[in-house]
Amino acid sequence: MIALVTDNLTKADIQDKLNDVFSHYHGDKQELIPILQETQEQFRYLPAAAMREIARFLRIPESTIYGVSTFYAQFKLTPLGKKIIRVCRGTACHVRGAGKVLTEIEKQLDIKAGQTTDDLEYTLETVACIGACALAPTMTIEGETYGKMTTKKVAEVLGDRSKVE
Ligand code: FES
Repeated sequence: MIALVTDNLTKADIQDKLNDVFSHYHGDKQELIPILQETQEQFRYLPAAAMREIARFLRIPESTIYGVSTFYAQFKLTPLGKKIIRVCRGTACHVRGAGKVLTEIEKQLDIKAGQTTDDLEYTLETVACIGACALAPTMTIEGETYGKMTTKKVAEVLGDRSKVE
């Protein structure tokens, strides 16, 4: 499975949500970063069509929007999954087998770190340290921490989460 994801947003969906975002601003180019943040909160990423509308609203070139959104790691240009999995690759986790846990997750979800599953259920990321080194190796799903991870526990944890909702 290639993580080539698309979403089903219509132009009207985008415009409705953006009108709501724009209602909090005056159209000043200094407002670009907070507008991008709020837009990303709405869509969980920055759709290209939304960036075009933001450029129009702020009367700045689209290339400026792309420049800013690619400069800051917080901005995502592709849709994120409903559940964000973060695998710690900090030193404590690394020496206790985080690499194997990550490989197992990649295998089970059929994506690589940094990618999203085709069904937009999961996005897989790695992080430097989640501050729970005593539980190494660790991972989080939607902010919930799973410690002392093993390759065997991966199926259990992913299966567990798939029952949620
Ligand atoms: S290094 Fe993984 S939680 Fe600290």
